[in-house]
Amino acid sequence: MALEQRPVGKLDRAVIFLGPPGSGKGTQAKVLADKYGVPHLSTGDMLRDHVANGTLLGLKAKPIMERGELVPDSLVLKMVAERIERPDCSRGFVFDGFPRTVAQAKYLGELLRAHGLRQPFVIHMVIGHTLLIRRLTGRRTCKVGGEIYNIYDRPPKVEGICDNDGGELIQRPDDREEVIRARLLAYDKQTSPLVNFYRRLGLLYEVDASKSVAEVEQEIVQAVASIRGAR
Ligand code: AP5
Repeated sequence: MALEQRPVGKLDRAVIFLGPPGSGKGTQAKVLADKYGVPHLSTGDMLRDHVANGTLLGLKAKPIMERGELVPDSLVLKMVAERIERPDCSRGFVFDGFPRTVAQAKYLGELLRAHGLRQPFVIHMVIGHTLLIRRLTGRRTCKVGGEIYNIYDRPPKVEGICDNDGGELIQRPDDREEVIRARLLAYDKQTSPLVNFYRRLGLLYEVDASKSVAEVEQEIVQAVASIRGAR
């Protein structure tokens, strides 16, 4: 969080970003988490850290992520449960990329109840597949602070260098077109059923994620502000 930024209020719940690869979950989750001063929990980033650090979990996850498939629930759930036990999650948190299967969503419901937390607020990032390939092949991420850029639509001031901290901008290994297609397939088969799962529970808020970053952000910030305080 930037030093001068103060939280706008209490979040006191889990906010979940649900949407296909490239829909803008990470971009918007980071902004929202900074706004409320709560952790941004990206299971993709956590898994990539495990891969980079060569942990046992990382060694198991690496080939699966390289193929664009989902890492088994048994590995992901333990990692998430341990993370939300930490004290910084007591005032709420923003999930980006979790849950991704109905089993993960059910487990999360139990975890939240066990921690006495409110029902989550689920933001569904609605967007067609055609835009996603361009977004993902153009994505570059700062190696230091994780800031997300796009060489077509959101370039840094200096090519390859982060505007915020001068970190090197890198391309994710799973952002190659053939892996992107496998990730989209995994989303359609295993994750998209969560849209109806959360809709039936009355927890889903739909956003048109094909709009500009600023427009999507404005809509999400207003939606989250309007549900604060509500059960
Ligand atoms: P993960 O890291 O979660 O990747 P993902 O879900 O495929 O999503 P992305 O990070 O690719 O996209 P995003 O929606 O965050 O978009 P972003 O904001 O970056 O997962 C990676 C892998 O880890 C999975 O394949 C799986 O193997 C494993 N994994 C992770 N979680 C798991 C789980 N729970 N269970 C099992 N396995 C799991 O934006 C993309 C680009 O678009 C950027 O360049 C950005 O600048 C640009 N952009 C964003 N918004 C806009 C906009 N409105 N207009 C124009 N450009 C935009």
